[in-house]
Amino acid sequence: MATDRGNARKNKSDEFYTQLVDIENELHHYKPYFKDKVVFCNCDDPFESNFFKYFAMNFNHLGLKKLICTCYDNSPIAYTQLSFLGVNENITYPNQYRHAYKIEINEVADYNDDGAVDLSDVKFLLQNKKNSLVHLNGNGDFRSDECINFLKESDIVVTNPPFSLFREYVMQLIEYNKQFLIIGNINALTYKEIFKLVQEQKIWGGYIFNKTIEFEVPTNYNGTLRNGKKFGKVPSITWFTNLPTKKRSEILILYKNYSPQVYPTYYKFDAINVNKVTEIPMDYYGCMGVPITFFDKYNPDQFEIIGLGAGDLGREIGIGENYTEEELKKFKAQNPAFRRGIPFYFNEQNELVVPYARVIIRRR
Ligand SMILES: C[S@@+](CC[C@H](N)C(=O)[O-])C[C@H]1O[C@@H](n2cnc3c(N)ncnc32)[C@H](O)[C@@H]1O
Repeated sequence: MATDRGNARKNKSDEFYTQLVDIENELHHYKPYFKDKVVFCNCDDPFESNFFKYFAMNFNHLGLKKLICTCYDNSPIAYTQLSFLGVNENITYPNQYRHAYKIEINEVADYNDDGAVDLSDVKFLLQNKKNSLVHLNGNGDFRSDECINFLKESDIVVTNPPFSLFREYVMQLIEYNKQFLIIGNINALTYKEIFKLVQEQKIWGGYIFNKTIEFEVPTNYNGTLRNGKKFGKVPSITWFTNLPTKKRSEILILYKNYSPQVYPTYYKFDAINVNKVTEIPMDYYGCMGVPITFFDKYNPDQFEIIGLGAGDLGREIGIGENYTEEELKKFKAQNPAFRRGIPFYFNEQNELVVPYARVIIRRR
């Protein structure tokens, strides 16, 4: 456990707290899928998480059956904002994991009788006997048996999980066959395990895709101070989900014609290079290498994903497997970005060009 705690402290990239507006901007697309569902936020201190606030405020609007939030003992700001739920005096610390607790919401009402269920009601939630706050036996790690039991009980998991554990986090959701809506970085699409899930159509991008977003951060992080809180900008933020999205069935309108001058063919790999997703040629039906932003436009009825032009995944589809030893040496000397598994081409000046992260696709 000591090691886990040490690691978690080192992972500065994990402590980014999502703003309510960013949750609302994505979540409003999915309202019908939440009716009668048990929602689990498993990386969320209910006292500081806007995911908790969002679901508590919208509990009746979405028609939720139950909301469960668990928090992790290691969060540096855990237990610093107790006033939010109005319970700062009555919490005891029964064991060493004093910061790990679970909140369960079964009913939300207009407690303050102001005519609406809103943020001002959230602080009264725990006065309702149907709702509870209990300490966990363990440290609230999403991988612990205790938290896995809550996962089993839930239908949809929604959160911004620790970035350093993203792969493991997603694989657990898939293992337990859960629906999910989670925040990550676009580059996660190039992780071998995640890419395979995309290919198998078990995960896809949400509406907010590859955007720079501001998160609240602990005060010792770099960032901008506003009203006593610190905020840091994070690029390439992308929502990942397996809930239906309208966007996934939209057809990407293509307008460019294929020409070998504009779309060079890769060396010893039968695919053409396309630099912009919007410039995928409308009259080409062979394999094409496109930037990873393609996933924002990916409609599985329009395109087939053949593979990823990077590392082992690239070699799995034959990129670089047929180079001679002599070629390998020569190409490395010509361009330091050259790697086996990444497709490349020679431009008109005969320079070796290695494009950044290409997905290999084909029109259906
Ligand atoms: C990126 S932050 C997001 C917090 C919150 N979900 C939000 O969006 O505001 C990820 C959170 O996961 C917590 N965390 C780190 N490792 C964890 C683990 N193994 N199990 C559960 N939570 C963990 C971190 O302490 C951090 O509070």
